[in-house]
Amino acid sequence: MKILLTGAAGFIGFHTTKKLLERGDEVIGIDNLNNYYDKKLKLDRLTLLKKYKRFEFVKKNISEGIPSIDQVDGIINLAAQAGVRYSIENPLEYEKSNNLGTLQVFEYARHNKIKNIVFASSSSVYGNVTEYPFHEEMKIDTPISLYAATKKSNEEYAYVYNHLYGINMTGLRFFTVYGPFGRPDMALFIFTKNISENKPINVFNHGNMKRDFTYVDDIVSGVVSALDNINGYNIYNLAGGRSVELNYFIKEIENNLGKNAIRNNLEIQPGDVLKSDADITKAKNELNYSPKTSIEEGIKNFVNWYKDYYSLK
Ligand SMILES: NC(=O)c1ccc[n+]([C@@H]2O[C@H](COP(=O)([O-])OP(=O)(O)OC[C@H]3O[C@@H](n4cnc5c(N)ncnc54)[C@H](O)[C@@H]3O)[C@@H](O)[C@H]2O)c1
Repeated sequence: MKILLTGAAGFIGFHTTKKLLERGDEVIGIDNLNNYYDKKLKLDRLTLLKKYKRFEFVKKNISEGIPSIDQVDGIINLAAQAGVRYSIENPLEYEKSNNLGTLQVFEYARHNKIKNIVFASSSSVYGNVTEYPFHEEMKIDTPISLYAATKKSNEEYAYVYNHLYGINMTGLRFFTVYGPFGRPDMALFIFTKNISENKPINVFNHGNMKRDFTYVDDIVSGVVSALDNINGYNIYNLAGGRSVELNYFIKEIENNLGKNAIRNNLEIQPGDVLKSDADITKAKNELNYSPKTSIEEGIKNFVNWYKDYYSLK
């Protein structure tokens, strides 16, 4: 297959592109290489992808439209302004990259007769829902960050494009994805960095928060399967299948670094949810999704990657 993948230099985009290339697909990757976090990580990911002959990279902001490219069999739309906390500081960027950018991708598909689109949604669409575990049929009318609101509207745009133009649309609600080459704005990266540099870590809600963390290889298997099994309009939760307390997560990082954290215990931040816990039955049944990496193994892999990448002893 020939796939257009947006956000190819991003964390999940990089791992997904690599997987597609390894199995023999061709990938045209688009990314605007923005400065939201250290660009070196994005450039290093691209260097690894450029080793594959079947990879082509186009630097472009998707909110300005998709450049003319060869006909593709499907699109995976992962480009977005990510991060719940940054959406409080810079809401307009979310409107541009997530809403307008997604609409540009859908319009490109419509005008170029591309029939299959897999796109990234997020667990944050569950917002203030307090009934657990979250399942796809729940009413999600209570987003608590602009980031979440844009992801919910992406799902609605997708419904419209499926209804009007018959484009197959699969939205994937990712639950806190982590792993090697992960994002520097996320807890695992920040905690690993600060603990290894003997700097304090900010622990929100005193660590009494729970997240259904998902190892990146498991997410990638879900994304690829979603593309292979696309049919009509569908939304799936993709999660690790186990909700883990933040305090336990920190303990595991400490164990792997052989150092204790200096904790700065704080109240919960605006926009943060207390708990995420996913029902992944639909993805298991329809996508054969089966997360394989435990949190203990996943954190170990990340810390090993971090030490290697930043040349720590
Ligand atoms: N990582 C997670 O835990 C998580 C959880 C839920 C949802 N998601 C979603 O998954 C997708 C991938 O997330 P990620 O963690 O890999 O983030 P990331 O920031 O590492 O990757 C996103 C990439 O998109 C690019 N990008 C952003 N705006 C763009 C634009 N307007 N035009 C072109 N490129 C643009 C960025 O440069 C970046 O390389 C995003 O849609 C994100 O919202 C991620």
